[in-house]
This record gives sequence, C-alpha cells and structure tokens, in this order.
Amino acid sequence: MNNGFFITFEGGEGSGKSTQSNLLYEYLLDAGHQVIITREPGGSEGAEIIRELLVHGESDRWKPLSELFLFSAARVDHIARTINPALNEGKIVICDRYIDSTTAYQGIAGNIDKDIVSLIQDLTVKTLIPDLTYICDLDPVVGLERALNRNIKENRYELKGIEFHQRIRSAFIDIAKTNKNRCIIVDANRDLKEISKSISNQFETTYKK
Ligand code: TYD
Repeated sequence: MNNGFFITFEGGEGSGKSTQSNLLYEYLLDAGHQVIITREPGGSEGAEIIRELLVHGESDRWKPLSELFLFSAARVDHIARTINPALNEGKIVICDRYIDSTTAYQGIAGNIDKDIVSLIQDLTVKTLIPDLTYICDLDPVVGLERALNRNIKENRYELKGIEFHQRIRSAFIDIAKTNKNRCIIVDANRDLKEISKSISNQFETTYKK
C-alpha cells in the first residue's frame, strides 16, 4: 500500500528544476523525513539504459511516437523498481521529471494525439499520479543558454530550436492550469534561495501527515 508522498519537478531546459529538487531533498532530510530523490528518464538500472538512447544523438534521431514508447518503457521499470517500493515504505519520493514531461514534449510539442498520449500514460502509471508537482517556469531563451553552457554531452533536446522550447513552456503552463489540484507554477527567474524557500513553504502547506 502506498502511504508515501510523491513529488515531481517539471520544466524546460535550464529552468533549475534539478537544482531545486536537490535543495528540497536536503531540506526534507534535515527535517528528519525519509526521502529519496530520483529522475526520469532513468532512476532504475533498466531505465538508465533506455535514457542513453534518448538523450544522445541527433535531435531528430527518434520520431515523437518512438520517444513516447521509450520514455514509457523506462517509466514502467522506474515505477516498479524505485518509486513504488519507496512509497510503499512510506517514504517521500522526489522525481526530476515525470508524466507532465511526456505530455509537454511528446504530446503537445511532438504533436501526438492527446488521446493516444493519455492512453499510454494510463497504461504506464496506472494510478500513480504525483501528490505535488512543481512546474519551474523560465523564459527558454535564458534556460537554453544555461543548459547548453552546462551540458555538452546530453544535449539532444537542447538542440531543438527555440520555437520548440517556447511550445514546451506554454505546454507546462497549460498542464498546471488543468491540474490545479497538484501543480504549482514556480517563477524560476529569481534568486536560487528565494525559489527554494517558496518550494519548501509550498511543501509544508501541502504535506498533511
Ligand atoms: P533531463 O535529464 O531532465 O534533462 P534536463 O536536465 O536538460 O532537463 O531530461 C532529458 C530530456 O528528456 C529533457 O530534454 C526532456 C526529455 N523528456 C521528454 O521528452 N519526455 C519525458 O517523458 C521525459 C521524462 C523527459
């Protein structure tokens, strides 16, 4: 039985979500919670192997539909081997990217029909929807510059044009608006500490245990 708490971080390239998920992890550890941090694509042995296929190579290496299946295959393994066992032990799980990235990147920006994406998502995650999702929002012009300066190896998505990333940004905003029960938009164009404070404050008001 899942009696844990599931938190996801979403956002475009260079939006600071990985930094912020790590800061929340430290905050929760310091507060004495049992917590793990993981990521997608990846987070389990098999899913990390699939990740290698997804983050390297030419930006058009995969069709969006192939990506949808690859991300979903990785996610099934990640849920079974990492996320569910931790939640079943009552832990807090922080995951850097999850289903909303698939909806934004493959669905909205990749032009895959909404019904197909939601059918595959339902099969993949069953009932495992996050309890709390932070959508880190930043102008992609700023985010891409940061991301490309920092990561020259895993850059297949960063190499897609600015228009693609503008679509990702507005996709995440739409996702947040249609999932108000769990999604919080975080203004990522602020001082690091200010952002992390607002994230931990939000956690405290949402986490009821
Ligand atoms: P990630 O390692 O989080 O990259 P970054 O640190 O640059 O945000 O994710 C790698 C890429 O995978 C990222 O560009 C977004 C993409 N992605 C999808 O397209 N669909 C998905 O379902 C997921 C989880 C990630």
